[in-house]
Amino acid sequence: MRVKITETVLRDANQSLIATRMSFNDFEAILEKIDQAGYHSIECWGGATFDSCLRYLNEDPWERLRKIKAKIKHTKLQMLLRGQNLIAYKHYPDDVVRKFVDHAIHNGIDIMRIFDALNDFRNIEVAVDQTLKSGGHAQGAICYTISPIHNLANYVKLAKQLEEMGVDSICIKDMSGIMGPQEAYDMISAMKDTVSKPIVLHTHSTTGLGPITYFKAVEAGCDVIDCAISAFSGGTSQPATESLHYALKQAGYETGLKEDVLKEINDFFKPVKEQFIASGVLDHYVLGSDTDALVYQVPGGMLSNLISQLKQNNSLHRLPEVLQEIPLVRKDLGYPPLVTPMSQIVGAQATTNVLLGQRYQSVSNEVRSYFKGEYGKAPGEVNAELVKTVLGDEKAITSRFADTLAPGFAKAKEEIGSAAKNDEDVLSYIIFPPIAEKFFREREEMAAVKVNYTIKKL
Ligand code: CO
Repeated sequence: MRVKITETVLRDANQSLIATRMSFNDFEAILEKIDQAGYHSIECWGGATFDSCLRYLNEDPWERLRKIKAKIKHTKLQMLLRGQNLIAYKHYPDDVVRKFVDHAIHNGIDIMRIFDALNDFRNIEVAVDQTLKSGGHAQGAICYTISPIHNLANYVKLAKQLEEMGVDSICIKDMSGIMGPQEAYDMISAMKDTVSKPIVLHTHSTTGLGPITYFKAVEAGCDVIDCAISAFSGGTSQPATESLHYALKQAGYETGLKEDVLKEINDFFKPVKEQFIASGVLDHYVLGSDTDALVYQVPGGMLSNLISQLKQNNSLHRLPEVLQEIPLVRKDLGYPPLVTPMSQIVGAQATTNVLLGQRYQSVSNEVRSYFKGEYGKAPGEVNAELVKTVLGDEKAITSRFADTLAPGFAKAKEEIGSAAKNDEDVLSYIIFPPIAEKFFREREEMAAVKVNYTIKKL
């Protein structure tokens, strides 16, 4: 019996525990070892890594990817893509989506995990199609959530839809760590009966259920599970790679992982973790188990973001109220799964509702766009009264929102001009305009300093 393991330390663990502050220099020295461990794949890009590289770490995210690829030559590299939102929070036109996917694959990505926050698959079609055309592995992901309108039959139907779309594998993405072992067993058994593509389970340790859930998922025939090397595991991150390997091996499963190499990888990351604890980036709050998530369904990344936002406002003491407001906002929005960008949209609106002391006194532009249908179809019924207050006479659209967007790549390329050195720069600019421009300026300045220095030396 065989089960494969994806390592998330470079992406999801990094994002869930330390707000994606690990720089390339922090992990460069261990990449070759990671390549030797026998992982199914290394999740290393997408989601917040791109944003954080440009915004906080002064790194070119594309260059990071190429540098990782240069050291991880044998194991597949994996990224997380938010469908039509790419790695940001709004919808991009199809030409931009195609360009981004194509460049991501040509810069080193092998497996493209693609999801839509609302499981509205009209929003992942183009990215899936382009992944296949560019020679990548297209993994369609289903966001898992619990609500009065989500049930097993729905999820199996979604898996079937993904298979019909032509994906290479199917991922169940439990970003909040709320899937219990029996639910995993039932869902994966049902999917295995219905679809023939490999099934991947992604969960977090947030509620403490993660490791047991993975074990039962594997018993039901799950093909791949996502884990994090133990120094960066647990809490809002993934269950530990070594522990899952250990337990599964006892039960007769082959993971293909080399224990001595895992030990070296973990020994490398222990002091890295210590640094982030010392600098206060790694908060003890995200390390333990918190069963509140079974009630609030708040994913790890969202929880650490809420904490840092409230801290900045000197309002950390209001976290319990915000956590109580989140499910109410979610109900008003027709039970979207709490995954990026919905987790941020719901989190920010809930925070505003609490801090202003009156619900929806101020409504964010994102909630307005959501009610207009710009994110796709809400899974359930939205609060019609609230929609009316927010939109007034404006009508919501029901078609695929990206169909209303004009092509954007050529226009952006012209706009940014010579500050962009290549198409990858243009894509960074399209996705994070002011931050990318600032990054390009600083890169120019750095280059000028280097030239001056060289001339002086000569
Ligand atoms: Co995750």
